[in-house]
Amino acid sequence: MTMSTAYPLDSLKAHPPYLAPAYVASRTRSPRRPLVIIPHTLSELSGPVYGHESVRDLDNDLTRQHDGEPLGQRIVVRGVVMDEDGRPLPGTLIEIWQANAAGRYIHAVDQHPAPLDHNFTGAGRCVTDPKGRYSFTTIKPGAYPWRNHPNAWRPNHIHFSLFGPSFLTRLVTQMYFPGDPLIPLDPIACSVDEKARERLIAKFDIATTVPEWALGFRFDLILRGRSATPFEEPRS
Ligand SMILES: [Fe+2]
Repeated sequence: MTMSTAYPLDSLKAHPPYLAPAYVASRTRSPRRPLVIIPHTLSELSGPVYGHESVRDLDNDLTRQHDGEPLGQRIVVRGVVMDEDGRPLPGTLIEIWQANAAGRYIHAVDQHPAPLDHNFTGAGRCVTDPKGRYSFTTIKPGAYPWRNHPNAWRPNHIHFSLFGPSFLTRLVTQMYFPGDPLIPLDPIACSVDEKARERLIAKFDIATTVPEWALGFRFDLILRGRSATPFEEPRS
C-alpha cells in the first residue's frame, strides 16, 4: 500500500452527471437522493501496488493469446498515465477489454449475429513503467448494436480500467477512435460534455504506427482533477 497526499473532495467537474436520460440505463442506476460526503481516510488515500510478477510480459498483446492470429486491423495503443498535476504515474495497473473486429464480445450475454473469433478473447492488462507509459497491441474493435434506442450502435471503443496510487484515482472509462461518425449519436459518449469528450478520443499517431504491421494510436490518461479523463458512466 502507498500513502498519497490529500485530494479535493470535489473532483467531478470533468465527469458526466449520474443521470443522463438519453442513456437509458442511467435512469435506474443514478442515485435519487443527495450523496453523503464522507471525509477521506487511509481507506481512500492509499491503494494497491501491482508488481510485474503478477502481470506477464505478453498480457498487453491481445493478438498473441491463441494459436492463430485474430482477424481485423492490427493496432498499437500507447500513452502516458498522469496525475492531475501532469506527473507520470508509474506502477498503475491498466486493464482493457473490447469486442472483436466484427463487434462481438466473447460473453454469454452478447448474442447479436456477428461472428466470434476463436483467436481473440478481447482482454489484456499491463502496468505503467517508471515514466507512466503503457502500450497495448490488439485489433480495432467493431461497432455493435445495443438496444438503448431504435437503431442504436456503439462507436468503436476499448474499455479501460485503471488503479492509480489511491482508491480515489480509480478510473473506468472508454477510449474512442478519431473520426467515428457514431460518437455524436452515442448517449454514453454524449453524457460527457463536448470538451471533455475529446479526452476520450485517441489520436492517430504515425510515430506509434509500426511499418508493415499495425496502425498506432495515442491515448494519454489523467487521473482526477479538472483535466481528468472522464469516467464512462454518468456521474453527478
Ligand atoms: Fe463495450
